[in-house]
Amino acid sequence: MPILVNTQPLEFHLQSENVSYILTVMENDQIGHLYYGKKLTHRDSFQHLIRTGERGMTAYINEGDLNFSLDLVQQEYPSYGTTDFREPAIQVEQENGSRISDFTFRSYDIQSGKPALEGLPATYAEKDDEVTTLTITLEDQVTGGELTLLYSIFEQSGAITRSASIQNKGDETVRLKRFMSASVDFPDADYEMVQLSGAWSRERHVKNRTLAPGIQSVSSARGTSSSQQNPFLALKRPDTTEDTGDVYGFSFVYSGNFLAQVEVDHYDVARAMIGIHSFDFEWKLEPGEAFQAPEAVLVYSDEGLNGMSHIYHELYRNRLARGEWRDKERPVLINNWEATYFDFNEDKIVNIAQSAHDLGVELFVLDDGWFGKRDDDTTSLGDWVVDKRKLPDGMKSLGDKITNLGMNFGLWFEPEMISKESDLYNNHPDWLIQVPDRKLSHGRNQFVLDFSKKEVVDHIFNQMAEVLEDAPISYVKWDMNRNITEAGSTGLSRDRQQEVYHRYILGVYDLYERLTSRFPHILFESCASGGARFDPGMLYYAPQAWTSDDTDAVERLKIQYGSTFAYPLSSMGAHVSAVPNHQVKRITSLKMRGDVAYFGMFGYELDVTKMDEESREEVKEQIRFYKENRGLIQNGRFDRLLSPFEGSGNETAWSVVSPDRKKAIVGFYQVLAEPNPGFQKLKLTGLDPHKEYRVSGKDRTYFGDELMNSGLLLKEQYIGTDAGGLEESGDFSSQVYVLEQIN
Ligand code: DGJ
Repeated sequence: MPILVNTQPLEFHLQSENVSYILTVMENDQIGHLYYGKKLTHRDSFQHLIRTGERGMTAYINEGDLNFSLDLVQQEYPSYGTTDFREPAIQVEQENGSRISDFTFRSYDIQSGKPALEGLPATYAEKDDEVTTLTITLEDQVTGGELTLLYSIFEQSGAITRSASIQNKGDETVRLKRFMSASVDFPDADYEMVQLSGAWSRERHVKNRTLAPGIQSVSSARGTSSSQQNPFLALKRPDTTEDTGDVYGFSFVYSGNFLAQVEVDHYDVARAMIGIHSFDFEWKLEPGEAFQAPEAVLVYSDEGLNGMSHIYHELYRNRLARGEWRDKERPVLINNWEATYFDFNEDKIVNIAQSAHDLGVELFVLDDGWFGKRDDDTTSLGDWVVDKRKLPDGMKSLGDKITNLGMNFGLWFEPEMISKESDLYNNHPDWLIQVPDRKLSHGRNQFVLDFSKKEVVDHIFNQMAEVLEDAPISYVKWDMNRNITEAGSTGLSRDRQQEVYHRYILGVYDLYERLTSRFPHILFESCASGGARFDPGMLYYAPQAWTSDDTDAVERLKIQYGSTFAYPLSSMGAHVSAVPNHQVKRITSLKMRGDVAYFGMFGYELDVTKMDEESREEVKEQIRFYKENRGLIQNGRFDRLLSPFEGSGNETAWSVVSPDRKKAIVGFYQVLAEPNPGFQKLKLTGLDPHKEYRVSGKDRTYFGDELMNSGLLLKEQYIGTDAGGLEESGDFSSQVYVLEQIN
């Protein structure tokens, strides 16, 4: 049984093959946390894990007792103000101004499977026996608030999802000021916090810091999950490596403002929590109303950071992503953005498509600039009507021309935005996110549509549906190019203005849900100026995301490496673009650009009509290679081998191994050449130790254990004579190896 129950006192032991998570009803009837980590043998009581006792300057719950204090015990879903002084998971304000609550245990329920969260993305079970769910119901007697804590454990991997909901069953209106999705009190603080931080064009760089007393956090208040911080953190022991040691991951299935924080207290208890950011958030709950928090996904591994990532990859690829495209091999695409920007017409587009088709590309994606009168970024967002100046015969005609070439056709939208120069703005100036009496700031000359209003979402849905029905479109790139400012809605009363960020995201999810249900054959790729909304929430609707606008091969090493901490290769759009690179002006070889982009959902972002014959032959070969191996890349086990964030960062390596371990692809990358280097071996992982492998470019075979323990001898670097060929050694060089098991 994945969830065992002890009755005196009540304890719940969630377990999988490798993981135990234990909680209890404490003596004050609130929920206490007993343990999270490597699996423990079940016993009839775990009460001895509670640590409490008399301490100076501590407050106690019961008069006459100097033992039980929430300042001392580990809790599951803490509130503030009754002896716990740390930041809480929940804070509810009553009409009389009180912010104290006391949610005490009422009942529990254990069920096979996993309930959906209404209106929100979440992981799911395909068969009931793969997940078991514990529901705990608590009640605050003073307000009549009913709090429900949901825990689901995926039996095989031990991944635990958590969320909370609250219903106002009392008769006064209350205000939810803070409502996190999960909180865990770890008994010690000997951890490093790993976070994925960055900015536009350098998303999800890996940063580590040692936990210190006080609060350390990552968050977003931008209206998107953001490129600055990803809704993820991991706690690892100082000696945990990629492949060994304890690590706990916290990932948030949400695309808006979030907070992920760890508070280390005076007894070195580390309270980790993740949820909607409480900054500029407040939700009014009238009698009878309810609020559902998004889902948090907790992963424990004792096999290092790669071990944690394997669990996230598998879960997010197979039980978060949905729909027809979840398991289908993804098409090799070409996108015209960097080839033409706004300057195109039908002939130009068809020429690029024809030329790309000759190379083996399967999908042509028409990016920004096809609608309204959009010749630059100042106009037309919101007018999803084809620009007849550029495409005189309409979208269907262009779509037909492209599909007649034998390719699929895809289209770009930016559904959540509006330009002031647009018919939509002329007709509905009140449809913008805005506050009274304040100047509206812009981002990229555009403004944000108020997706908290249903009529706005309806209107955009209708416009998009018309285009998607008219033309033969099998792919949509859904972009979002600015953050939210002057956050407010003319559709919400004054006392609900702080609900706008969350209501906006619910509107985005609603539009995604409607479009994906109406057009189930369309592959959606999410995008937000590259990777500003690269989060698990988006993955539920769009199985792949544009990882970053930065397609430089060297920069992509860091971006893709960091992204793999929580996200599978199947979610990462990775394209070969032109040189000098449009983001950093770097010149790298076509080989290296391809070798990096192979480890993602592959495509091109350049004008193939301008390539010379030699490059075109190389591209043909890249596409042939990718098609042959994309099943493995999409579904294999991915491992990080050498980090661009460690040491000099000069070398990066990673690999992907097929589920049956018969085939593997290894990528090794060097940024700058070193003079007179030694002989370099790369230790592989995930192979069958006792099977022999043929390695491309080598004239002998190796056993898996040799490749994993002694390593694969890499091609020699340039040492005065050119041993490896310039693109495999020297500056900006790469080596890709294919390993195949010999029967
Ligand atoms: C930002 C995206 O990240 C790019 O790929 C491109 O689609 C542009 N927007 C178009 O405006």
